[in-house]
Amino acid sequence: MEKLALPVPVANFCRDLLRWYQRHRRDLPWRRKLEPYSVLLAEVMLQQTQVKTVVPYYQRFLKRYPTLEDLAESDEEEVLSLWSGLGYYSRARNLRRAAQQIRDCHGGEFPRTYEEMIRLPGVGRYTAGAVLSIAYGQPLPILDGNIRRVFARYLKMDGLSAGDDSPPLWDLLTRLSRYAAARKEVSDLNQALMELGALVCTPRAPSCSRCPLEGSCLGLKAGVQEKLPLPRARRAVKRLSYAVAVVCHQDRFLLARIRESEFLKGMWEFPRIRVKDRERNLSPEMLEGAFHRELGLSLNIGGLLKPVRHQITFRRLTLHPAVGTLRTATPPSGLVWADPGGERSVPVPSYVAKIARLYRQIHDC
Ligand code: ADE
Repeated sequence: MEKLALPVPVANFCRDLLRWYQRHRRDLPWRRKLEPYSVLLAEVMLQQTQVKTVVPYYQRFLKRYPTLEDLAESDEEEVLSLWSGLGYYSRARNLRRAAQQIRDCHGGEFPRTYEEMIRLPGVGRYTAGAVLSIAYGQPLPILDGNIRRVFARYLKMDGLSAGDDSPPLWDLLTRLSRYAAARKEVSDLNQALMELGALVCTPRAPSCSRCPLEGSCLGLKAGVQEKLPLPRARRAVKRLSYAVAVVCHQDRFLLARIRESEFLKGMWEFPRIRVKDRERNLSPEMLEGAFHRELGLSLNIGGLLKPVRHQITFRRLTLHPAVGTLRTATPPSGLVWADPGGERSVPVPSYVAKIARLYRQIHDC
């Protein structure tokens, strides 16, 4: 493995970066008290989601579950409800299971070793390193998209793509984290690297003149900072069209639990069936037949609302809401009447809340 080296002494690198961080760091709620449970929650929420989206979710979640024990005792559906709209719901399920594992296998004490941390559900190398270095000052590196971009440019790593896991970079970051931990600075160093990527060394139009590393950045020297890292190979988008049955009764909607094997499993949604792409082919009669055949659901369908588009990772969904009433006195087993977005809500993905809002605007309920 080729060994990466900094273009300046490690002491200078850390000094310049930490000085910048002290001045420019954002006052984010998870930075106020560096306690492992709240750091883990923040890191898990921030894995696929932007800071400004995460802040209100983080605050609501901590208010509802102030401690690890509270989360371990929680109801999974309520946790998913609080997560509703953040996406990537397996993160929430894993976090709850991690809290239970800490309660059951670690006597409720947060693990302090990497080997124990990495065994928790949903915790990988990044999350284990982030929690243990940020909350406990342990000499562990972190490498996320922001940090990868900073180093791809700073060291002019020509072959590095955005999604690559680079062993030489992990190795360099390990050396940096050991240096910083010995000076009790690893928590700030790791946060400073992420912060530099988020505020200065941004994906587009980086603000090099405001960068504390400007003088030694090899990418900038070669004028290739905006070309690095190379774009990641994108997974092909899969387009999927569905019809969903929007059946409202006394201000509640008929909802079905999402099947185990599908995306968003464990949440609730309108009864949904696959349809061909062409909207003009969706007649009420055809949909009534299809809902009956596939889900045993007997409906009178009155009409269609305008389609709603929603992306889940690489899947681009087009959802055609078919508004109707139930022909039978009770729904088939497995379906419930529920109020998405209401006080005692079941967890729903954001497209369900969106369709319910659309329906309510039109039907004034
Ligand atoms: N992105 C991932 N972790 C973060 C953190 N702790 N602060 C700001 N942005 C982040």
